[in-house]
Amino acid sequence: MRKRDRVGATSTVLVTGAAQGIGRATASALAVRGFRLGLLDRAGGPLEELVADLRGAGAAVASEVADVRDGESLGRAVAALEDRVGPTDVLVACAGVGSLSSALDLDLEGFRQMLEVNVLGVARSIEAVLPGMFARGSGHIVGLSSVAGSRGMPWMPGYSASKAALTTYLEALRPPLKRRGVTVTTVYPGFVRTGMTVGTPFRRPVPMMEPDEAARHVVRAVLRRPRDYTFPLSTALGMGVLRWLPNFLFDRMMDRAGPRALTSEF
Ligand SMILES: NC(=O)c1ccc[n+]([C@@H]2O[C@H](COP(=O)([O-])OP(=O)(O)OC[C@H]3O[C@@H](n4cnc5c(N)ncnc54)[C@H](OP(=O)(O)O)[C@@H]3O)[C@@H](O)[C@H]2O)c1
Repeated sequence: MRKRDRVGATSTVLVTGAAQGIGRATASALAVRGFRLGLLDRAGGPLEELVADLRGAGAAVASEVADVRDGESLGRAVAALEDRVGPTDVLVACAGVGSLSSALDLDLEGFRQMLEVNVLGVARSIEAVLPGMFARGSGHIVGLSSVAGSRGMPWMPGYSASKAALTTYLEALRPPLKRRGVTVTTVYPGFVRTGMTVGTPFRRPVPMMEPDEAARHVVRAVLRRPRDYTFPLSTALGMGVLRWLPNFLFDRMMDRAGPRALTSEF
């Protein structure tokens, strides 16, 4: 283990969605840097394997199974983790779900789940750690949003809306939390090869970064505490263009991009 990075009082990081994908890789990358870890996911098996690996490498780590949609059990799980690895200095809220839908099948049930996990689940995770952060007058909330939340993506309206809501929610929390010593960082990853993206019906192979590379960026966000953190650079540039594109050009671009990029009904 490398000597722990100096990031103010930061020492314990709570990672939600830690069993798979970006959350799992981020937990491993944080462990290498010597952070104490509280890991949370709804699936016990993969989480236990990760904990065994990290402990084997000398990390101080504990895990709990909880669903971020269930505020009560989430609160109990966070309290149990804090008993074992210490109060949460940083929350990395990675737990998320995502699926495509189309105008022919709006998949409102999928939309509801995305709102419950991606928006309310993050809010509940924040709610579980915030009283402690306020009491200590310090803390850092890192929320995983998406470029898909910057404009309405027609092949994933529900996911897009959930991430837009999350981005706005985190932005709104920023000033009052800052007054109480808590920083908020919103992270916008480009495509990462995880369970969430592998099944996407792309017409052609799309370049995706591996979770380990994404994790290096998330760790940087933990260490540097920026307001927003978009990676890689190409995604940051693309997101900038998307945000400022006049509406008529954005609509035209999306009208063409959907059928060109995906085999699914558009
Ligand atoms: N991959 C990308 O290209 C990409 C791009 C932009 C943003 N993101 C965001 O990055 C975050 C991580 O995504 P990922 O790609 O790493 O996805 P992933 O591989 O599917 O990992 C997400 C993890 O969250 C867990 N989870 C889902 N719902 C939960 C719940 N209700 N309670 C507790 N845990 C729950 C999942 O468990 P299950 O396996 O049981 O569902 C899984 O372990 C998400 O917020 C995603 O929206 C991803």
